[in-house]
Amino acid sequence: MATLVIVGAQWGDEAKGKIVDVLSADALYVVRYSGGNNAGHTVIVGEDTFKFHLLPAGILYPQVTAVLGGGMAICPKSLLEELDRTIAKRPEIGNLVVSPAAHVVFPYHRLLDQLEEEARGLNKIGTTSRGIGPCYTDKVQRNGIRIGEMVEPIVFERRLREVLAVKNQLLSMFGHPALDFDELHTEFQAYADRIRPYVRNIETDIQNAVRKGERVMFEGAQGTFLDLDHGTYPYVTSSHPVSAGACLGTGIGPRDINSVLGVCKAYTTRVGSGPFLSELTNEIGNQIREQGQEFGTTTGRPRRCGWLDLVALRHSSRVNSLSGLVLTRIDVLSGVGDLQVATAYKKDGNVLDHWPSCVHEWEGVEPVYETLPGWSGDIRGARKFEDLPQTAQNYVRFVEKFTETPAAILSIGPDRAETMILRPDLIWG
Ligand code: IMP
Repeated sequence: MATLVIVGAQWGDEAKGKIVDVLSADALYVVRYSGGNNAGHTVIVGEDTFKFHLLPAGILYPQVTAVLGGGMAICPKSLLEELDRTIAKRPEIGNLVVSPAAHVVFPYHRLLDQLEEEARGLNKIGTTSRGIGPCYTDKVQRNGIRIGEMVEPIVFERRLREVLAVKNQLLSMFGHPALDFDELHTEFQAYADRIRPYVRNIETDIQNAVRKGERVMFEGAQGTFLDLDHGTYPYVTSSHPVSAGACLGTGIGPRDINSVLGVCKAYTTRVGSGPFLSELTNEIGNQIREQGQEFGTTTGRPRRCGWLDLVALRHSSRVNSLSGLVLTRIDVLSGVGDLQVATAYKKDGNVLDHWPSCVHEWEGVEPVYETLPGWSGDIRGARKFEDLPQTAQNYVRFVEKFTETPAAILSIGPDRAETMILRPDLIWG
């Protein structure tokens, strides 16, 4: 078997898009397994920049079958816009398949996302307002409409009628006018007509490809600490970004996974509310934000920036069963000066010996830092580990040791060429 899961090891935005793009050169399938257009995966190829929200970043390779897996929440309008934008720049893309099991995001989901956030007042989650939470809520409540239903006209009309009646009652509780069935139905029928050719039961093909030893990549979205179960609930997304989500969202089993690579920045960022122990609300945080251009791909919001939290990263490595780390954006730390990394958490003077699971448990917890010497200058030209400044090499080695996870790949810039593969053996297992 040659299967690889690419997972966000922090709070998302770890540069997974670039890594998926680089590794897709050798893949036959690239499968998104969770989330929707709340994600933003940037891929830079030469002069062209692609911002993917729904399409798997591997779609730029013509040999790739790019799959939107059953665990996803798909906004058809965004999918079609993204597809058109991508084809306009690169007519020769891979083969797109959309799983009929994926759920459809409707305008009422987006409305409810915004109305619920407003109602939370100061306790906002800081969602991306893409309707992701309400769409997954419908899935769990068994009120969701799947892509496979949307593309069957008779089924779709019946399901939309049933569901919209309930949604309109909910909207009226927020004082919002009802949505018109005919308008919505006509709009979504048009999307269905365009999406239908891509919809196919794909699970068996993926399972067969896995058995034949073909290279199948599972592309995670968001990050471990935004996972519904393993993140800092309730400041999380509503799906399963962790590596186990690849099984849930695509129909493979845990023993079908050979390798899991956890993508993490050389520092930490987070968008939206919620605990972030190593956050820097000072000049250094601003410097990292500016040097790294840390503004959301999906919402444009400034990202919260902070030191690398190794306690969190070690936990992430265990939750995801990481085979290796992909340490990205090492170049961004150039010139920041001495670097701090969190190596323990303390509360009331005592070192915590467990990972806090409820959000109130994070109150009063403080990081304990170790200081490591930084580096300066432009390191984007480095192509071998030894080309990096000694202090940057030491930083990488420190991270590996603390997290008990080897660094498989280093990324020192956004371009495909600015990538060092240190452990090819860890990539496809
Ligand atoms: P939602 O996924 O839009 O419901 O947002 C829930 C939380 O996850 C918010 O804090 C968002 O900022 C965060 N989030 C969702 N998608 C991403 C992502 O792709 N990168 C980083 N944060 C994200």
